[in-house]
Amino acid sequence: MFAGVSQRLPFMTSLKPMISLRLFLIITCTSLMISVIWIQLVERDNVVIESETLINEVLENAARDHRYAEVYRKVDRLHKDIKYILLWTPADYAPFYYFGNGQKTFIDKNCSNINCYVTNNRNFFDGDTTKFDVIAFNGRNIGSLTKLQLPANRSSRQKYIYFNMESADNYPICSEIFDNFFNWTSTYRLDSDIPYPYIQIRNSKGDVVGPKREMKWTVNSALNDDALETKIQNKSKAVAWFVSHCKSRSGRSDYAKELQKALQKYGLTLDIFGKCGPLKCPRHKNNSCDSALENDYFFYLSFENSFAEDYVTEKLLTPLQHYSVPIVFGGANYSRFLPPGSYINARDIAPTDLASIISNFMMHSSMYSRLFRWMSSYSYHDPSETDNVCAVCETLHNKEMFETPSVYKNLRSWWLPNYKERCKS
Ligand SMILES: *[C@@H]1O[C@H](CO)[C@@H](O)[C@H](O)[C@H]1NC(C)=O
Ligand SMILES: *[C@@H]1O[C@H](CO)[C@@H](O)[C@H](O)[C@H]1NC(C)=O
Ligand SMILES: *[C@@H]1O[C@H](CO)[C@@H](O)[C@H](O)[C@H]1NC(C)=O
Ligand SMILES: *[C@@H]1O[C@H](CO)[C@@H](O)[C@H](O)[C@H]1NC(C)=O
Ligand SMILES: *[C@@H]1O[C@H](CO)[C@@H](O)[C@H](O)[C@H]1NC(C)=O
Ligand SMILES: *[C@@H]1O[C@H](CO)[C@@H](O)[C@H](O)[C@H]1NC(C)=O
Repeated sequence: MFAGVSQRLPFMTSLKPMISLRLFLIITCTSLMISVIWIQLVERDNVVIESETLINEVLENAARDHRYAEVYRKVDRLHKDIKYILLWTPADYAPFYYFGNGQKTFIDKNCSNINCYVTNNRNFFDGDTTKFDVIAFNGRNIGSLTKLQLPANRSSRQKYIYFNMESADNYPICSEIFDNFFNWTSTYRLDSDIPYPYIQIRNSKGDVVGPKREMKWTVNSALNDDALETKIQNKSKAVAWFVSHCKSRSGRSDYAKELQKALQKYGLTLDIFGKCGPLKCPRHKNNSCDSALENDYFFYLSFENSFAEDYVTEKLLTPLQHYSVPIVFGGANYSRFLPPGSYINARDIAPTDLASIISNFMMHSSMYSRLFRWMSSYSYHDPSETDNVCAVCETLHNKEMFETPSVYKNLRSWWLPNYKERCKS
């Protein structure tokens, strides 16, 4: 290349010096560019680059943050074995909302496997959706889909995954087009292929031990925690409830109203905060609701909005993380979620009896403090934004699981055993 340039130079010296200098610069630049492109092409042979979008994202991320530059430079961590996930339904609902775009989320969350790539662009592989490893559907958005709105072509190596964080009773599956359709599920149901619970239980070493269908609880008998004792001595109010959806299929507000009445007999109150009650405590002000709960209230209503198996939401974390005792009301078998002797199940007890139990606990603080013995053995966390997201990517890389063919023949009844009745109403 440079030989060619020098051969032409004598001819150009006869022209004006200005022009020859400009020409020389142009030619030099061009040859530089060619060599840069050539180097890139050589690199391309080693790294199978699968998509323009990916390259663009790499460049964008690298420019934005040196941390990504470092990750992306380690090609052994990048797309040798990436699992490509297509979000078929809108990305602005949980859990898709937590997945973000591309690979960034898995890197940000420091997942043990970051080799997953998320997009909602159906044209990512030039419109061939069979090239995705996973097509993900959010159960709360599939109710109105027709057959024509599902992927046209399907490869037998792909996994179609049913995600849902909403209760089965609020979002039943009614259409038969989803029979024999989904290969995997990822929901709050603990028997999902990739469980996506609202609650994470760790033991005192910090290992994740639950929730599980068969929990083996071990609770130390004694708990000497001065901070806890001080907290308990300081409490003066009976029950709090933070709630913003007043109408629900579980009938929880009817129960709450009756409890409120029954508590009056003991001179106690159920204080309702939020849209459905008279009391307000703006959440953005340093969670003043949570600190009120922690300082003042003995009990908290962890009432779910509907009854469904394993449907236990962050409403349970609220008291457990703030020195209060949950009164639960839901469709779950709570022995999968809570150690014995750490909660009260309102579904087993009439409101009048519950009021008497509450009053009794408030009068006997040593009895009440025993409800916190679990704290010596366990801690409760919210996994939905990090650990669950990582678990999705990690499970996709479980080669044996991924390659074993599987399908839900009748997802409708797995998801909601009484779906026939529910779908009529
Ligand atoms: C990321 O995870 C690794 C182990 O997987 C751990 O050693 C490291 O401390 C984590 N880094 C951050 C910033 O959390
Ligand atoms: C589906 O596959 C058929 C046969 O391979 C092909 O002709 C058609 O274009 C594909 N449709 C889409 C939407 O990719
Ligand atoms: C919230 O807490 C932070 C630090 O914990 C404090 O600096 C700030 O003043 C608090 N804001 C309010 C409204 O209490
Ligand atoms: C006791 O409760 C009050 C509010 O009722 C709070 O300001 C105070 O910090 C609490 N003390 C302790 C030790 O929790
Ligand atoms: C709840 O689960 C426990 C432990 O698996 C079991 O012993 C119990 O029978 C279950 N209760 C109900 C009502 O299914
Ligand atoms: C997914 O389900 C479809 C439809 O039943 C089936 O043909 C395919 O083999 C399954 N694929 C995997 C990887 O499980």
